[in-house]
Amino acid sequence: MKDEILRVQNEALAMIHAANDERSLDEARVVSLGKKGSLTALSMAMKDVPKEQKVEIGQLLNGARAAITASLEEKQLALQNITDRASVAGIDATLPARALHTGGLHPLTLLRERAVGILRRMGFALADGPEIEDEFHCFDALNTPADHPARNVKDTFYFDSGKLLRTHTSSVQVRMMEKTIPPLRIIAPGTAYRRDEIDSTHLSAFHQLEGLYVDRDVSLPDLKGTLEAFLRELFGAQTAVRFRPHFFPFTEPSFEIDVKLEVKGQAPRWIEVAGCGMVDPAVFEAVCQSRGDRKYDPEQVTGFAFGMGLERLAMIQWGIRDIRLLIENDVRFLRQFA
Ligand code: DAH
Repeated sequence: MKDEILRVQNEALAMIHAANDERSLDEARVVSLGKKGSLTALSMAMKDVPKEQKVEIGQLLNGARAAITASLEEKQLALQNITDRASVAGIDATLPARALHTGGLHPLTLLRERAVGILRRMGFALADGPEIEDEFHCFDALNTPADHPARNVKDTFYFDSGKLLRTHTSSVQVRMMEKTIPPLRIIAPGTAYRRDEIDSTHLSAFHQLEGLYVDRDVSLPDLKGTLEAFLRELFGAQTAVRFRPHFFPFTEPSFEIDVKLEVKGQAPRWIEVAGCGMVDPAVFEAVCQSRGDRKYDPEQVTGFAFGMGLERLAMIQWGIRDIRLLIENDVRFLRQFA
């Protein structure tokens, strides 16, 4: 019996040693420790062992079981190790990690956030209006007569319903005055649409930032000071700003604002960045009619308004030469701002 135990133990250990995968290792376990295994059979034979030998044989059996179990576990670990190693074979863990591509904000978004941030600190609140607009809010209330070129179907996207894609964000001025009483100080960044030929300075869908300030005694110096301060904060304290007389139906007087662009190696150029002016009394009258009260009586209130092109501002800010770069989604371009 003793010899038999040792033989079974050695046989099992040899089998375990020879096992080179999970399956053959499991087989070694079944053959020795399984229900019908060799060591199990010997354990069952214990009942026939004479009493005086029981202790000794019992110890031998336990020893054999312990040795086989330990060997099985050890081999199991060794095999696992081999599989683990194989799965990372050829991988050099000392190489630098691959860079994660994180996204960044689009330059137009960056610029809009900065512009909005500056104007909010100056006391302007954010406002919004629909992109699908009616002619009243886009034109009539803004003192823009029916024969104005902006109202031509050649220049504007009309729907069959008579509504249109707003040609400027100035419509938000009217909507906000209809909804709120003065004093009113709002900015409205948003998309505007025109049937423009797309080229290096024109897109058919582009972005504007509209502003409106209405109160008692708002004056032209307020307009000039506000916008100069804004542009200097955006582009730097040394930025040269110029107000050029112009015409807009909804302001009187009206101006275009130019910023002096100085790029190294180029002659300085004046670039138009915004339209602005003192709100035309005719606009206040239209609002009064629409509201059905005199809260915006042009004898009582005055105001200034402005509208700037966000793409323009971005082009100046970063010296971008072609507006189309802003919509082409070329990551080589966009990555520079991330
Ligand atoms: N709406 C004008 C445009 O799209 C820009 C503009 C000019 C807005 C003067 C204004 C303004 O608020 O007062 O060309």
